[in-house]
Amino acid sequence: MPVEMTPGDLPVFALHTETTSYAFTVTAEGLVRHLHWGGPVAAADMIVEPVWELSTNDLIQDIVVQEYPCHGRFRYNEAALRVRFPDGGRELDLRYREAILGDERLDVVLEDDKGLEVTLHYSVLPEVDALVRWATITSRVPGVVLESVASAQFHVPFRDLDLRNVSGHWGAEQQEVVQRVSTKVVLESRRGISNHHHSPYAVLSREATEVAGRVWAAALAFSGNTKVVVEQTQYGETLLQLGVNDHDTEVALDPGVGFETPQVVAVYTEGGLGGMSRKMHAYGESLMDPQVRPVLYNSWEATNFAVTAEGQIALAQKAAEIGTELFVVDDGWFGRRNPDQTGGIHDGLGDWWVDPEKFPAGLSPLIEAVQEAGMRFGLWVEPEMVNPDSDLFAAHPDWIYREPGREVDQARGQYVLNLNLPEVEEFIIETLDGLLRDNDIDYVKWDANRPMSQVGVRRDVWFGHIAALYRIVAEIKRRHPGVLVESCASGGGRIDFGALAVFDDFWTSDNTDALDRLEIQRAYSLVYPPRAMRAWVTDVPNFLSQRSIPLSFRFHSAMMGSLGIGCDLTAMSPEDLAASSRYISEYKQLRPLMRDFHRLENPSSNDYRLFQYSSPQGAVLFAFLPASRLGHKPTTVRLRGLDPHARYRFTHDWQQREVSGEYLMNRGLRLWLQGDYASSVIRFDRITEPTG
Ligand code: DGJ
Repeated sequence: MPVEMTPGDLPVFALHTETTSYAFTVTAEGLVRHLHWGGPVAAADMIVEPVWELSTNDLIQDIVVQEYPCHGRFRYNEAALRVRFPDGGRELDLRYREAILGDERLDVVLEDDKGLEVTLHYSVLPEVDALVRWATITSRVPGVVLESVASAQFHVPFRDLDLRNVSGHWGAEQQEVVQRVSTKVVLESRRGISNHHHSPYAVLSREATEVAGRVWAAALAFSGNTKVVVEQTQYGETLLQLGVNDHDTEVALDPGVGFETPQVVAVYTEGGLGGMSRKMHAYGESLMDPQVRPVLYNSWEATNFAVTAEGQIALAQKAAEIGTELFVVDDGWFGRRNPDQTGGIHDGLGDWWVDPEKFPAGLSPLIEAVQEAGMRFGLWVEPEMVNPDSDLFAAHPDWIYREPGREVDQARGQYVLNLNLPEVEEFIIETLDGLLRDNDIDYVKWDANRPMSQVGVRRDVWFGHIAALYRIVAEIKRRHPGVLVESCASGGGRIDFGALAVFDDFWTSDNTDALDRLEIQRAYSLVYPPRAMRAWVTDVPNFLSQRSIPLSFRFHSAMMGSLGIGCDLTAMSPEDLAASSRYISEYKQLRPLMRDFHRLENPSSNDYRLFQYSSPQGAVLFAFLPASRLGHKPTTVRLRGLDPHARYRFTHDWQQREVSGEYLMNRGLRLWLQGDYASSVIRFDRITEPTG
């Protein structure tokens, strides 16, 4: 049974996924005490050891590891909850009141006699082998203000753990960082956007490799300001807390109206980092629309703001010829969206009408051309923003965030609309709805190209902005079922499990250099599913790196995610167009085999980068050698995730072969790439029936 509770006044609770258990109890003082997060244990077996105060400086509230430790009493580690009561008091004294047990869900209610109630929610996802946690804070009295609220706190009973996350910035998102936790580490976002710089998750491990070792990981489903705190305590264990960032944030509680935090997904495995990633991917997949993501063409790198009906139709014809399934017109089609002599742009955003100079007959001729060529049509928008020279700003200068007595800063020549205003929320919904009703649009790319700042006097707007964003996207999808919405924020600024539950497609990074992308995509795959990772093949020299990487390597790198094309196809040679067409066709055939993702080991002294997908029908290997060095050595590729007893057919070194899964996983294949930017994709077809 996924949820257990022992009888008695001080019950033990246990939540079970397929391979893990999570347990806690209630102490005589009414504290909810954490007991276990790891391999399977039964609630009835749980021995609840006594806790002793170590000294008058190390008292019981600090030593008992709590499921949701609050500010006050003798507690000094990061508080999951801080409030301000109407009398100015800030100490919380939450005690267990009751538990409500469902089949796959447990709610634990805590109460403070100053009129506050906290419900800790636990839900088990048996098919994902994961646990989801969040909390609801309800006040019974007026005047209570939330000063800080986490979604959950976890405990790992070890010290000196390795913490993995990413760090980066625009054009260099998702750079993996690994550090030993010996004190306190805070990973946060304060820009109103979840993850150019860090991502709202923590992967904690002990001597883990890709294939083995204990890993505890938790990720927050929220796309705004987030805070992840990892703290090694003085008492020899590690705390992990995830939630909405309390930076510049306060939320007033209306009596009787619960504040529900974003959810956190938590997984534990002894199957190493790879095992952890596949559970996180399964969770991400469970949030996503299952339809196959189309191979798309996007106009941004080819035309920038200079889009015209004629130019886009020319691109669309070529895109269809090479097998693209969706044609997306990026920035530049609306308002008076033209850069000035210095390249700066101050107009357009907010005016979501089709530019009659660029599209004299509206979008219809282009959409018809796209559809006649057999593709679906997509359009770029940036609905949260407004330019100072736009008609929208002239009509509603009060719709943007403003700091009293200050001039409002521009970034990329634009302001952020205050989505907390109901009239702004309605304007965006009605404008997008109109756009989608007037034009046959199947796909919307939703961009956001600057951080929030100067949000004014209210401190609940950071959270409110994202809540409104989620409502708007959900409403648009409700009114236009089947439309896919891509999340983009100046590249990969908005990828997290909150966004994954609302959006359908994700722009990984504006960095489209195929070699840089291997790094970005590898770290992306740590937690987020590769199907949610858009990857385009673009022209060379790459606009950022100025590197010229061969088309084969560029395609192979992009085929690891959801493939897109961003080249100026009207300038592409017939040979490259023909090759592109072959790669796209190959990708479409490989797509059904691309299910479980594996980052493979490279035993060679040459710098091979090896990735693999497995599925019940077969596998796909992606191998890259950016530079051949010192002896041009081969590598050995040991595949993973195959059925050891099944046989697989594949072509290697120009020969068709057939061997067992066991052979491919245990002995492996010798692979010898030569030259610089060498790459290879090998398909393995299972030739005996899948067992399950
Ligand atoms: C940033 C995005 O990441 C790009 O793909 C492109 O859509 C531009 N914005 C358009 O302004």
